[in-house]
Amino acid sequence: MIAVTHDIPYKLFNTMGIAGRAAAVAVWDAPDDLPTLFSDLAGSLPAPVKPIGQGSNILFPDGRFEGTILLSGFTVVEPIESPEAGVTFRIGAGKRLDDFIAETAAEGLWGLENLSHIPGTAGAAAVQNVGAYGVEFADCLVAVTCYDVADRRFVTLPAGELGYGYRDSAFKHPPMRGRMIICSVDVRLSRVPAPHLDYGNLRSCLKGAVPTPLAVREAIVATRRSKLPEITEAGSAGSFFKNPVVSVDRLSAIREKAESAGIDTSSMPVYQLADSPGHAKLSAAWLIDRSGLKGARVRSAVTWQTQPLVIVNADGHATSADVKALAEHIIAEVDSRFGVRLTPEVEYL
Ligand code: EPU
Repeated sequence: MIAVTHDIPYKLFNTMGIAGRAAAVAVWDAPDDLPTLFSDLAGSLPAPVKPIGQGSNILFPDGRFEGTILLSGFTVVEPIESPEAGVTFRIGAGKRLDDFIAETAAEGLWGLENLSHIPGTAGAAAVQNVGAYGVEFADCLVAVTCYDVADRRFVTLPAGELGYGYRDSAFKHPPMRGRMIICSVDVRLSRVPAPHLDYGNLRSCLKGAVPTPLAVREAIVATRRSKLPEITEAGSAGSFFKNPVVSVDRLSAIREKAESAGIDTSSMPVYQLADSPGHAKLSAAWLIDRSGLKGARVRSAVTWQTQPLVIVNADGHATSADVKALAEHIIAEVDSRFGVRLTPEVEYL
């Protein structure tokens, strides 16, 4: 079934809680709706048509979005292959990723438990390649089924052909961007224990408990709750910036610049990248923290005290302009101290 509504407030469709109105919102709940939506209804849907998940990685504009927000109500989960060692599930694009993880972790299946408590839908996770605590969504992804609006057909694309990288996929770039509407994602989970416990203090968070998918999930949820704002309490879009990747040749110049600004760089986190020799990942949170920007504020947009990589809508009245102004301030301040330009992970609509 397809439901189209015109002139809709979108505060509830974005976790940052930016207020405004969309020219239209269309909800589909079965893949067969998509050919109808993009043929019969195409003329009546204001352009552009923008698919979103839970709106947890998007900065909506102030005032009005003149296009159509496309939401998936397709949340069916079915096992499509189940040999001894694990299960491959086909997950409807609109299914909340965390609900899927809660259900499968309870069944003792391994794979995505480190991504517990991340907001967003399965479809969005396949675009964004969400990651946390040493695991990325693409690690378990087998294939993605999409409706190709240009060729008007369904295609199933193997994960290996989708250019997955740190918070990146082919869906974010031409020619796929705006062309592929994700219908479902196939993920493979394991019955064979496969815990990833080497990130940060995760092992100690388990407090000696036997690692089961559920125990790991509970430790992750507790860790995230202690560091990150609950979107039900303070609107946010999670990490606002990506962790910057720099050439290792630049590291000494970055340290020198910071030291000359009075910053002690002896504890600066530098992660070597196995898949990109000659490059290293820096911690955006550390750079923001050492730039003195914990609690930095532009009107109602504020960096979160325990994780300054997150910008929150402190009183529920932040505008998109407040958030952008704070983001620009952070970019400029970090750049002036370290010579490193942060780039937003959040997409500006
Ligand atoms: N740090 C500080 N000050 C702080 C907080 C952190 O200096 O106030 C430093 C610490 O040195 C810490 C480092 O920053 O070791 C990294 O912090 P953290 O482990 O929290 O991870 P992150 O790189 O900041 C990434 C993801 C998060 C994910 C965590 C945990 C990105 C952009 N963000 O953050 O994802 O939860 O790792 O795996 O990659 C999200 O994308 O919405 C998100 C929350």
